[in-house]
Amino acid sequence: MAFQITKAVIPAAGLGTRFLPATKAMPKEMLPVVDKPAIQYVVEEAVAAGLDDVLMITGRNKNALENHFDRIGELEATLEAKGDTERLQKVNFSSDLAEMHYVRQGDPLGLGHAVLRAKMHVGREPFAVLLGDDIIDERDVLLTRMIEEQSKRNANVVALLEVDPAVAHMYGIATVEATETDDVVRITGLVEKPASGTAPSNYAIIGRYVLRPEVFEVLENTEPGKGGEIQLTDALQTMAEDSASGGVFGVVFRGRRYDTGDRLDYIKAIVQLAVERDDLGPELRPWLKAFAGGLD
Ligand code: UTP
Repeated sequence: MAFQITKAVIPAAGLGTRFLPATKAMPKEMLPVVDKPAIQYVVEEAVAAGLDDVLMITGRNKNALENHFDRIGELEATLEAKGDTERLQKVNFSSDLAEMHYVRQGDPLGLGHAVLRAKMHVGREPFAVLLGDDIIDERDVLLTRMIEEQSKRNANVVALLEVDPAVAHMYGIATVEATETDDVVRITGLVEKPASGTAPSNYAIIGRYVLRPEVFEVLENTEPGKGGEIQLTDALQTMAEDSASGGVFGVVFRGRRYDTGDRLDYIKAIVQLAVERDDLGPELRPWLKAFAGGLD
């Protein structure tokens, strides 16, 4: 029986060491991308795909995340008193976006360990996982497509991006077989961050998953892997080998994705999104051209 998927799990408990010292007292998911924290784009994407029950896996410094999606009476009162309805709407928007739930990861023992914290909340339904530092452009549909495939196949579905082989060692990489559907592949094997030059393909897993609840039992039996962490990729590898769990399929994404957990990609994301905005683009574009013209 196909379930209506309603729950999104957003792991945001990583240490964000690539962004230190900015992430010393603040989760990297709260870094602003133009004028919204990265995590808000991700919650908006979940809601747009019909998932308005959101469980966030938090770590240390969780207060900033919780506060962002909560009401802040003092701020609302000040904006109201000033008659600043435009900003008041923006502030209220993030508080009213979704039904938010939080659970602590405790020690950051890996993405698989973070996802396992969602077991009680999710129960026995398929659910989505969206990484809090990965932004998919709202004009490009991915999650809805993945949910469709999950329901159709009753399988586990991950998002794949074709990457330059030179950067394959930074991702989980899939070995794939074609299916009858152009943008869908069957995954026969997965390897987390393969050593340079050993990647079995250039299909990299990016931060979107639609999973069957059996993943929790698999995660409970997954030993620490790369970096001593419990890897979601390792659990998916187990499921790819076990047809009883529905197997693992990949939806190949050909749209725009911004990795805000990486410093260079983060800067690119801000520039790309800002130049397209009506309020910032018209001034930013000519400035950027002149600036780039002055570079070697
Ligand atoms: P990353 O692999 O980017 O790790 O996590 P990180 O620790 O956050 O960042 P760096 O590499 O030290 O800079 C991918 C996603 O998984 C979450 C992160 O918050 C991020 O959204 N995560 C990772 C957890 O929630 N818990 C973990 O134990 C590890």
